[in-house]
Amino acid sequence: MVKKAVIPAAGLGTRFLPATKVQPKEMLPIIDTPTIQYVVQEAVDAGIEDILVITGKGKRAIEDHFDRNFELENHLEDKGSEAAYAEIRRLADMANIHFIRQKEMNGLGDAIAQARWHTGSDPFVVLLGDTVMKSVIPVTRQLIDIYEQYQCSILGVETVPKEKVSRYGILGGNKISEHIMEVTELIEKPDPKEAPSNFAVAARYILTPEIYKAIAETPRGKNNEIQITDALKILMQREKIIAYKFEGKRYDIGNKLDYLKTTIEFAMERKEFSKPLMKFIKTLSGKRSKS
Ligand code: UTP
Repeated sequence: MVKKAVIPAAGLGTRFLPATKVQPKEMLPIIDTPTIQYVVQEAVDAGIEDILVITGKGKRAIEDHFDRNFELENHLEDKGSEAAYAEIRRLADMANIHFIRQKEMNGLGDAIAQARWHTGSDPFVVLLGDTVMKSVIPVTRQLIDIYEQYQCSILGVETVPKEKVSRYGILGGNKISEHIMEVTELIEKPDPKEAPSNFAVAARYILTPEIYKAIAETPRGKNNEIQITDALKILMQREKIIAYKFEGKRYDIGNKLDYLKTTIEFAMERKEFSKPLMKFIKTLSGKRSKS
């Protein structure tokens, strides 16, 4: 059974400067909820009981967000703000959340390596802390179900248009069904002509403990960092890896344009915002098309 989750959230978020100079990218709110809270909620909804967040320098706000805040709780209680009080209390009790620091920013592979003493000999799910999923069944739950069937590492994938494969880590291998592939190839940002498929690695993984040995053997790659994709290539030589095309939509808030789009899409689904926001956007686009 997969009972543990690892959420890497130590990255510098350089694509989102200056907002991320002192503020963790993973705390950027989608309307009123920090991105990482959606990620933790997905793990909890999937039945995960133990979460390890990989943090780093300047990421204290993440720890504080999931901790008790007695001053705020008392204030909300005194004011009679019951709903806000309940939400603030719920946050501190969401799951058993632990934190560990990645001391140097050596890439995602190195961030995941920090979890080895915590996960030990158990398989674990990795959820990137800057990527939110919207789905009927939590994407993490879907991956766990596939793990239970195959008992090996599972890579969550999405299909991307052929002309955009050069932006992603693309997988190749033997298709078992429309949604499942046994992976034999992993190519980082391939030329569309050379891409073995349009299956792109997408921010959720289940990894077996063998990954730690593979990471330890992985030389520094792109950006002089330990890339998880390079470690997966080593793991692929030793163990079966399955790619699973999950049902759901991925929202990467790590770049500014996608963050804006995500915020608008999520706001459109909230009753209190959808109408006034739509009206505002229409007025705005009307003004722009006239000018
Ligand atoms: P990204 O590559 O998107 O994050 O990693 P980044 O390095 O912070 O981004 P830019 O390019 O500088 O803007 C995806 C996730 O992995 C974490 C990040 O915090 C993010 O949630 N990460 C990345 C780590 O925990 N450690 C690392 O060394 C790199």
